[in-house]
Amino acid sequence: MAAGADTDNKTTRGDGAGSNQRHLYPGLVQEWPHPPVTAHRRDAGEAESRRANGADWDRYADEYQATHGEYLGDVGFLWGPEGLTEAEAGVLGAREDLAGKRVLEVGSGAGQCTRWLRSVGAIGFGLDLSHRQLQHSRRIDESTGIAVPSVRGTATALPFAAGTFDVVFCAFGALQFVAEIDRAVAEAARVLRPGGRFAFSITHPTRWMFTDDPTEEGLVASQSYWDRTPYVEVDDATGATAYVEHHRTLGDWVDLLAGAGFRIVRLLEPEWPEDNDRLWGGWSRVRGRLTPGTAIIAADRDAR
Ligand SMILES: C[S@@+](CC[C@H](N)C(=O)[O-])C[C@H]1O[C@@H](n2cnc3c(N)ncnc32)[C@H](O)[C@@H]1O
Repeated sequence: MAAGADTDNKTTRGDGAGSNQRHLYPGLVQEWPHPPVTAHRRDAGEAESRRANGADWDRYADEYQATHGEYLGDVGFLWGPEGLTEAEAGVLGAREDLAGKRVLEVGSGAGQCTRWLRSVGAIGFGLDLSHRQLQHSRRIDESTGIAVPSVRGTATALPFAAGTFDVVFCAFGALQFVAEIDRAVAEAARVLRPGGRFAFSITHPTRWMFTDDPTEEGLVASQSYWDRTPYVEVDDATGATAYVEHHRTLGDWVDLLAGAGFRIVRLLEPEWPEDNDRLWGGWSRVRGRLTPGTAIIAADRDAR
């Protein structure tokens, strides 16, 4: 979960607290095992984004799960760092209505959310780009006894027949890592039955204006909300693209969803709970008191 960007900044990822810190956090403890990267703002297409982000999540998965796994819960559905759960929010529908629903999680990681859905009776499946994240999913399947059948794949080419699912969702999953977002949204629409629900959480689009700094420094807007130029990290040693993140404004999301035949039914902007002192990348109580970190959107596919 990363947001914001500076142009051409040297950085080594990781803040020693194990967060998904992307750049320029003063006082970084350089414990991240990966080589330094330089951050750019430049174009990056789908193939480049997929290649970089799949490898990035493979490298990062062990640390991600070690750092955030307990907070996520092996059988737990959090929509974002604020800690809002699906049980509280009911974004996918009333809990009692989830039993028997066919659900696909795109960007499922270690499958925590879908495992929770299975625990309340849904028939959930996972899809993720990262082999290592899926290995963690298997590990937790075995330790909990609740298996999430999962497939390796990408959000822009879902390997399922049209109309297969009642619900498709992403909890900070694939969407901000994808360049061809219109294809990803069209794929969600295709695999949903008519009237099915697509729901997802993303870094709140307004966060793009700020660097990924959870302190008060990170409250200063330093880049344009309307600049969709991707955030790209390049490995200093090899010159390879190491990570790509894409930004869309709230207006872009409305247009994308409406254009794919969806009707938006909810937009949630969870508040930061005063008793939550967790630091997660650019998310913190300091920033969360003043500005939203997460947006959750639910939209229903045309019933026809
Ligand atoms: C922040 S994790 C979210 C996973 C889980 N919901 C969680 O909170 O841990 C993002 C996941 O999206 C996956 N991902 C990135 N790009 C993807 C793509 N193009 N298609 C499918 N999954 C992708 C990553 O491998 C990663 O597991």
